[in-house]
Amino acid sequence: MPTEPLPTRPAWAALRSHHGELAGTHLRDLFATDPDRGERLTAEACGIYLDYSKHRITDQTLRLLLQLADESDLRGRIDAMFSGAKINVTEDRAVLHVALRAPKQAVIEVDGLNVVPGVHEVLDRMAEFATSVREGKWLGHTGKPIVNIVNIGIGGSDLGPVMAYEALRHFSARELTFRFVSNIDGTDFAEATRDLDPAETLFIVSSKTFTTLETMTNASTARDWLLAELQDRSAIAKHFVAVSTNAEAASEFGIDVMNMFGFWDWVGGRYSMDSAIGLSTMIAIGADGFRDLLAGFHEMDEHFRTAPFEANLPVLLGLLTVWYADFFGAQTQAVLPYDQYLKRFPAYLQQLTMESNGKHVTLTGDAVDYATSPVYWGEPGTNGQHSFYQLIHQGTELIPCDFIGFLHSMNPLGSTSGPTHHDLLTANVFAQGEALAFGKTADEVRAEGTPEWLVPHRVFEGNRPSSTMLIERLTPHSLGVLIALYEHSVFTQGTIWTINSFDQWGVELGKVLAKKVAAELGAPDEPELGHDSSTNALIRRYRAARREV
Ligand code: F6P
Repeated sequence: MPTEPLPTRPAWAALRSHHGELAGTHLRDLFATDPDRGERLTAEACGIYLDYSKHRITDQTLRLLLQLADESDLRGRIDAMFSGAKINVTEDRAVLHVALRAPKQAVIEVDGLNVVPGVHEVLDRMAEFATSVREGKWLGHTGKPIVNIVNIGIGGSDLGPVMAYEALRHFSARELTFRFVSNIDGTDFAEATRDLDPAETLFIVSSKTFTTLETMTNASTARDWLLAELQDRSAIAKHFVAVSTNAEAASEFGIDVMNMFGFWDWVGGRYSMDSAIGLSTMIAIGADGFRDLLAGFHEMDEHFRTAPFEANLPVLLGLLTVWYADFFGAQTQAVLPYDQYLKRFPAYLQQLTMESNGKHVTLTGDAVDYATSPVYWGEPGTNGQHSFYQLIHQGTELIPCDFIGFLHSMNPLGSTSGPTHHDLLTANVFAQGEALAFGKTADEVRAEGTPEWLVPHRVFEGNRPSSTMLIERLTPHSLGVLIALYEHSVFTQGTIWTINSFDQWGVELGKVLAKKVAAELGAPDEPELGHDSSTNALIRRYRAARREV
């Protein structure tokens, strides 16, 4: 752990003054004075080609950012994580999502115990179960095969599974129907199940703690829905499985121990889609597909662990995020996948990045006096272009963008005579990065014959930074690589900011208050309300409406 607070590390001050020198330099000048920049400021690993030349950086910026990584002991922190040290200090836990994708022969110890055999034991059980569902051998209570799989979970127990299902639809068993219920809003459950036959439906209750209000409420609604039709409690054994670290609570719910898939407290919720939380993913793409996904994760883990920082993709991405958040005041970061299958990827990344690094104190509990995580957001291209790109191009905010493109489409459509769908999609990725970086000057606008009064409206100032990632095609393996890239970028950022990227105390207060308010909303007699006047008034108004019904 670095002993020096971040603002007193020498590279920090050097970056501050370097930023002052560089702030007025346009990307147009950086490219004009360095014609090889577009090929030089690139890195390639694990099947991802990263072009980071369209960033507001020079070789000196990179040197200083890498120096900052060293002064922040990034190397030591990586080694600590991979060796099972309890780096999640506020929860006294190891952080070992990397063990979930470690090969069988690997040895990773927590409290002197090798955790890898346990990981593979669960994977094997998952594979057996997933295969029997996929082959129509897992029969429901009435003897009908299961054809509908409903994952009930929220946060890390939902966002990963739903994102992976959407991302890998091309590889999924099309004869099976997959649904994901997360919100406590009854509409989510009602709409997800309205056309399903309970006799053919399997619920996967996914919850690390098995105490989460949303998931427990939805799970008991699912149990009622099932039993209303099948009228026999023994049906639960055939229609419910649990994924949790809390076997006792799952058992109390009525789920057979044989139908439980465990994981461990050293897997954070937002880092758990490759644990048993990925059971729905495995049913969709098969055990071999899931192993390909894990192999992709592992390949990126090894790259992160061993590659020199100047060629290390997650390190570079993480340092760039720090550069913009702390020196340019960028408050958001756009993630723009040019692949429709990745439509839930930005939502998945929101939890990964913001629940990890949205922190206001350091590891030792001191208030930070610098910015931590930016807000991550995005939509798949090209839809975003017809919505919010106006602001990215001409608004007053600096928004660094991650463009994610693929060399080959999983659905190649279009004529052979002209550009295909994929040519047009890819042309848009490249065009957006170019437009953001170089813009269009007033002289260029005038040269097109634009009347003078319209010129300012049509000027693009440019100098807006972006990374472009190119990947061969979207497969289970490349998805694993991509997710691990962001996981480790988050780790890099958290290390520089000297915060704990693995706790989430910020979600607690709202949960506790919601329990109290829920009791007040449903109380039979007028409860004494001890909140502020705004909250009290809202509660009274809701109670009045509830009485009318
Ligand atoms: O909202 C906080 C959180 O604890 C997330 O970190 C987690 O992914 C989610 O709730 C769901 O938790 P669980 O898997 O225990 O139901």
